[in-house]
Amino acid sequence: MALTSLKCTNFRCLRSAELDFSPDNNLIVGPNASGKTSILEAVAYLGRGRSFRGATTRELIHHDVKEFVLFGRAVKGTRKITLGVRNGQAGLEVHTDGEKRKSAASLAEALPLQVIDPDVHKLVAGGPEDRRRYIDWIAFHVEHGYLDVWRRFRRALKQRNAALRTGAPLNSLASWDRELATLGNQIDVARKAMLEITRPALLAAGEALLGSPVDFEYQRGWAADRTLAEAIAGSAARDQQAGSSQVGPHRADLRLRYDERQARKMVSRGQQKLLACALILAAVEVVQAHLEQPLLLLLDDPVAELDSNSLARLMERIEGLGCQVIATTLEEEKSLFRQTPQLFHVEQGVVSEAG
Ligand SMILES: Nc1ncnc2c1ncn2[C@@H]1O[C@H](COP(=O)(O)OP(=O)(O)OP(=O)(O)O)[C@@H](O)[C@H]1O
Ligand SMILES: [Mg+2]
Repeated sequence: MALTSLKCTNFRCLRSAELDFSPDNNLIVGPNASGKTSILEAVAYLGRGRSFRGATTRELIHHDVKEFVLFGRAVKGTRKITLGVRNGQAGLEVHTDGEKRKSAASLAEALPLQVIDPDVHKLVAGGPEDRRRYIDWIAFHVEHGYLDVWRRFRRALKQRNAALRTGAPLNSLASWDRELATLGNQIDVARKAMLEITRPALLAAGEALLGSPVDFEYQRGWAADRTLAEAIAGSAARDQQAGSSQVGPHRADLRLRYDERQARKMVSRGQQKLLACALILAAVEVVQAHLEQPLLLLLDDPVAELDSNSLARLMERIEGLGCQVIATTLEEEKSLFRQTPQLFHVEQGVVSEAG
């Protein structure tokens, strides 16, 4: 898949902007507050139906208007796809191929993408939710039916938690417990399989970017010596006290190791960024191989936090993947891409195509 064009209306500082992208490398150049991140955020929104920075709809709509509209064209092999998103007072509206869709999952299928931005180190240093989402992203694209299982699990978990909060007796939870155990096991099996296929790519990317061995240990969210059904039964009293379910795949985590040390606490900020990049590039590699299509990688200010050697290694690894890249930078860095990118300039929310 490659995004060939984007049209934004009233998205953040972009009143009206149109960009025609190269299927290879694209570089958006502009001073601070010109709208570079806004363009990447618009692209990511078109592929996810939500902000990659956790921004609310109100924050994304241009001041003083009521909605934003994004439209994009993409190609998947020889097939052309259109994507449309509108959000405002009437809520999120999603179109692909001119048809209204019920959920943003159709966007993710049409335009699979990953983002590396200055906050990417949080994938390593932050809480486990982002790491679960990371594994789930791979599973969504590789394991047919994963989204459905995940949605059913979330629904059952929500209902069980709601029952726990109202002080429902334990025996009334039995049907939720069975559902959670069955679906939770399916999630766990898929996540383990995803991590196994991703491990070689991660080890290689980690070695290339950091020059030392990286590895991870998956923690599934309940004790290793118990089935999920046993763990749920054993946690009943704690669940009642907490008013929420304490064991299950919603408690899973990925313990990352770098050079035999726990990455979350022991490595520098730049190293955290490189380790997070290694994770993301490994995921892109695996999903690309599965879909037999290049993916889209958004690189917001890759220069931040990295010395010139680290940046060169990162860019070399990215170019080696052969994915479509849209990157931003403050000043035109001649050394960022080896192959000349399609260049855009942005100034006060106005985009111009260079060259
Ligand atoms: N909803 C909105 N309506 C109008 N302008 C907005 C909105 N949200 C953000 N902005 C403004 O858009 C401008 C561009 O922001 P953006 O983050 O895209 O800049 P940038 O080029 O990435 O800057 P930097 O180099 O500092 O990262 C900022 O001045 C910001 O205040
Ligand atoms: Mg920015």
